Amino acid sequence: MSPLNLVVACTFGLESLVAEELRELGYDDLRVENGRVCFSGDMRDIATCNLWLRTADRIGIIMGEFEARTFDDLFDGTAAIAWEELMPRDAFMHVNGRSQKSQLTSVPACQSIVKKAVVSAMQRRYPNQTLPETGAHYRIEISLLKDKATLTLDTTGPSLHKRGYREEAGEAPLKETMAAALVMLSRWDASRVLADPCCGSGTILIEAATLACNMAPGRKRKFSAEGWEWIPREIWSTARAQARQQVQPQEFRLLGSDIDARVLAKARENAVNAGVEDLISFQVLPADQFRSRKRYGCLITNPPYGERLGELEAAETLYHELGMVYRELPDWSAYILSPHRELEKLMDRRADKKRKLFNGRIECHYNMFFGPRPPREPRPEGEAADS
Ligand SMILES: C[S@@+](CC[C@H](N)C(=O)[O-])C[C@H]1O[C@@H](n2cnc3c(N)ncnc32)[C@H](O)[C@@H]1O
Repeated sequence: MSPLNLVVACTFGLESLVAEELRELGYDDLRVENGRVCFSGDMRDIATCNLWLRTADRIGIIMGEFEARTFDDLFDGTAAIAWEELMPRDAFMHVNGRSQKSQLTSVPACQSIVKKAVVSAMQRRYPNQTLPETGAHYRIEISLLKDKATLTLDTTGPSLHKRGYREEAGEAPLKETMAAALVMLSRWDASRVLADPCCGSGTILIEAATLACNMAPGRKRKFSAEGWEWIPREIWSTARAQARQQVQPQEFRLLGSDIDARVLAKARENAVNAGVEDLISFQVLPADQFRSRKRYGCLITNPPYGERLGELEAAETLYHELGMVYRELPDWSAYILSPHRELEKLMDRRADKKRKLFNGRIECHYNMFFGPRPPREPRPEGEAADS
C-alpha cells in the first residue's frame, strides 16, 4: 500500500506539543500547521498515533486536496478520489463539513454533494450494486478554506479526549487533552509533589499519573479504524499488547483537593476507571487552606473562571487566595490556567511565562510561576561523575 497522508488535528495552540509527541514516537518529517500536524505514514502509524497521542484530538487520512469554487468542482474533485480502495461496499458513510472564507458557504449542500460523489466513486468498483451502509463506520470530512477543499477520512471516532475513564464529568471539566498539555508544559516530573487545589473531576492529576506511568492514553477505548477490514486486526492487537508492556509502574503521590465533596466522589471514580487510584489522594479542602511541607512541589490548576453572572467576585477572591497559598510554598512552581487578565495582579505576583491556550472557545493564559529546580540527588559513593 502506498504511504498515507496522515493529519493529526489538535486545539489551536497545541500544535508544537503534538509535534513533540510525534517526534518522541519516532516521526520526524512533520509539517506543522494551524491546528494540525501532517506527515506520511501507514496503517501501523494510525494505531500508534490513536493509542499514544495525549494532546491531539483526532487522526485522519487526507484523501485529496483541490480547488473548489463551484459544486461541480467539488463533485468532480471528490469523485476522482479512489474511495473504493479504502471503503468496502457496506461502508457506513457519514459526511461532516465546514467552510471558511470560501465561495461554497452552505455546509449541508457541500456534505450532500460529497456524499453523492463518494457513492459515484464507489460504483466504479461495485457497478449496479446497492451500497447497504450496514458495515464499519467511515466518517468523511469536507473542509473548505479559501476555496481549497480538503477531504479527510477520520480514523479516530469520538475525539481523543474521550479516554474512556471519565464517565461522569464535574462542572466545567477540562478536556483530557488540555489537562495532559498543562502537565506536559510544566516542569513537573514524578520525583516532585504535584497538587491541584481545585481539582474538580481530577483530570489534571489523572493525566499526570498516566503520563508518568507511561500508560497509553487510548488504552481504554476503541477507534473507528479498528473496525476497518483493510487494517489487519493483528496491527491493533500488537499495538495494544506493546502498550500494556510499556507501562512503567511508579511510586508517587498526587494531591487533589476541592471544596465540593460531590465532585471529588466523581474524581475518585475516574481515577479508579483510569487505574491510577493508588497514586492520587483526594480531599475536601478550600483552596485557601492548602499547605505542604514538601519541597520543590508543583501546583497545576484550572480554577473557576467566574463566567456566570455573580460568580466573578468569588473567582477573584480565589485567585487572591491562591497567591497567598503560593507565597507559603517558596520553592514550588505554580501553573494556573485562566482567562482572567488581572490574575497576576490578584495573586500579587508576576508570571515568569504566559502561554495563550484555548479551553474550548475560551481564550485563556497558562500562567507559569517557576520556583527553583530541585537539587540533584547526591550520587551514590564511588560512582564517577559524568565527564
Ligand atoms: C473549572 S473547575 C476544575 C475542573 C477540573 N480541572 C476538571 O477537569 O474537572 C473548578 C473547580 O474549583 C472548585 N472550587 C471552587 N472554589 C473553590 C475553593 N474556594 N477551593 C477549592 N476548590 C474550589 C470547584 O468546585 C470546581 O470543581
